[in-house]
Amino acid sequence: MIQDLFNNNNYLGYKFPEPQYLGAKYIHRGWIAKFIPETVYTVLDAFGGSQSIAYMMKQLGKKTITNDFMSFNNQIGKALIENSNTKLTSIDTDILFSENSNPEEYNLMETLFSDLFFTREEAAFADSFRSNVCKLDNPYKQSMALSVMCRSMTRKVTMGHFAHTQALNYASNPARIKRNRSLIRPLKELFLDLLPQYNAAVFDNQEHNESYNENVLDLLPKLEDIDLVYFDPPYCNSHADYQSFYHLLETFVEYWKDKQFVNGTKRYEPKRISGFDKNSEAINNFRKMFEFSQKIPTWLISYNDRSYPDIDTMKAMIEPYRNVKVEKKTYSSGRGGKGSVAGSSEILLICTKKTMFN
Ligand SMILES: C[S@@+](CC[C@H](N)C(=O)[O-])C[C@H]1O[C@@H](n2cnc3c(N)ncnc32)[C@H](O)[C@@H]1O
Repeated sequence: MIQDLFNNNNYLGYKFPEPQYLGAKYIHRGWIAKFIPETVYTVLDAFGGSQSIAYMMKQLGKKTITNDFMSFNNQIGKALIENSNTKLTSIDTDILFSENSNPEEYNLMETLFSDLFFTREEAAFADSFRSNVCKLDNPYKQSMALSVMCRSMTRKVTMGHFAHTQALNYASNPARIKRNRSLIRPLKELFLDLLPQYNAAVFDNQEHNESYNENVLDLLPKLEDIDLVYFDPPYCNSHADYQSFYHLLETFVEYWKDKQFVNGTKRYEPKRISGFDKNSEAINNFRKMFEFSQKIPTWLISYNDRSYPDIDTMKAMIEPYRNVKVEKKTYSSGRGGKGSVAGSSEILLICTKKTMFN
């Protein structure tokens, strides 16, 4: 199906490295692409996450602006959406794998996460890798290095996130290792395995694409001339707190010096403010988001029929500004990502400009 949608340009041959991210819409990208009108030129993926939908938009030849309030997701946006031709070479990986260039400064992963998510040796390797990222001479190379290392670290933990502390227990459980050998493979080996997929995913769609790292409510008022916005907000009621799930990746990228690290998982504190991950804040912020989007003609909103607020409430908030049509894709199995319980539905709200008659 996705083949038909992309057959008018040369970018279909590129492949997005399969993400492991709660709520990623990678498997729905062909379905979502059907609702992007051909005439649309500039698109915004406002909650980009793994960047799987922004990448699909880039493949459609659109001028693609992407955004996420987490820095590690922005690095993927820089490496695969904004970047049109920079790849990591073996000279670069030699630099990255060289010894820690400043052990006094770069020891956060070892200090926080040794014997929690990684062995001491692996955590120290992550620190030395991180210390060498700034030695790469190009910001896109740096983003690529950080993105691929984040993906490697995600592979090493059983559930693919950092909200539980069973990673090392699982890594010594033969049954689990049999199912997923990545649990015991060194980060360096995982990195070298993944890098060719990331390098091969870099392409130029002849547009000036951009990746932002902002709260959506700060970004929207600043952007001009967007033809279509895709909103895939966290779904309150199910895995909405991305900072609890992916704190380790954010700590690795930001290399925080001004945070505390709390609870059993050593999550950084204070967290960034999302505004979309708590039931008590979501409605107010959706209202603001729609108000700030009035200049953008078409809005596509991914949603789930088990989220808060419910779909009728969402429709009622959108209807003052746009006509709303509800498209539904029902899961036949539980493999659809976040909220993908068999029998639940993936929803896309198609919001189009009102005409004189409605
Ligand atoms: C459902 S996920 C998006 C998944 C994405 N479509 C994909 O295919 O991977 C929601 C994303 O919203 C981000 N987010 C949460 N609150 C935000 C905010 N206020 N502004 C921008 N991004 C936010 C989270 O970091 C998370 O990556």
